[in-house]
Amino acid sequence: MEQTDVMKPETLDDLIHVLHKIFESDNINVEEVQAIMEAYESNPQEWMRFAKFDQFRYTRNLVDEGNGKFNLIILCWGEGHGSSIHDHTNSHCFMKMLQGKLKETRFEWPNDKTRGDMVQTSEKILEDNMCAYINDSMGLHRVENPSHTEGSVSLHLYSPPFDFCQTFDQRTGHKNTVKMTFWSKFGERTPFETKVSQENN
Ligand code: SIN
Repeated sequence: MEQTDVMKPETLDDLIHVLHKIFESDNINVEEVQAIMEAYESNPQEWMRFAKFDQFRYTRNLVDEGNGKFNLIILCWGEGHGSSIHDHTNSHCFMKMLQGKLKETRFEWPNDKTRGDMVQTSEKILEDNMCAYINDSMGLHRVENPSHTEGSVSLHLYSPPFDFCQTFDQRTGHKNTVKMTFWSKFGERTPFETKVSQENN
């Protein structure tokens, strides 16, 4: 992506500050947000305190609530961990690499006539500070850490924030509504909830 006219955030705090300013407006320029997130050069010392891995599944770690306009979340993906095929509840989804690689696979929305496997539209490897963007008009996706030896870490911005999304069975297109929860918030492990969530953490 062309980054010549984009202000480069020097630190994660700087990036968060710039995002707060941008999201004061209700009209979001997707290319601008994507370019600014991409321009931040990942520095593990700045985000390490949020990056909490689990042995069994990827974790969602809330970093900032964006004055109610967005959620900024660090996702930690152990070797081979991945998400279900899911939608984004009519929100913007920006996904920036902080460490390692992720494979993003996109799918068409299933329709009444869908029989059997969902239709895959693209597959892409994200690495080295890249920032991907998707919303529901662009289809559905699944994200996976393709490595068998290294974890990966990504920074996601969802605007507006959402607590529920739909997941899809790749073989049938059948969907489920699932609650999204946080493994940690602001660097602190989220207290254990007795009600078990279906999706994550
Ligand atoms: C993803 O895009 O796969 C991550 C979904 C999530 O926010 O849990």
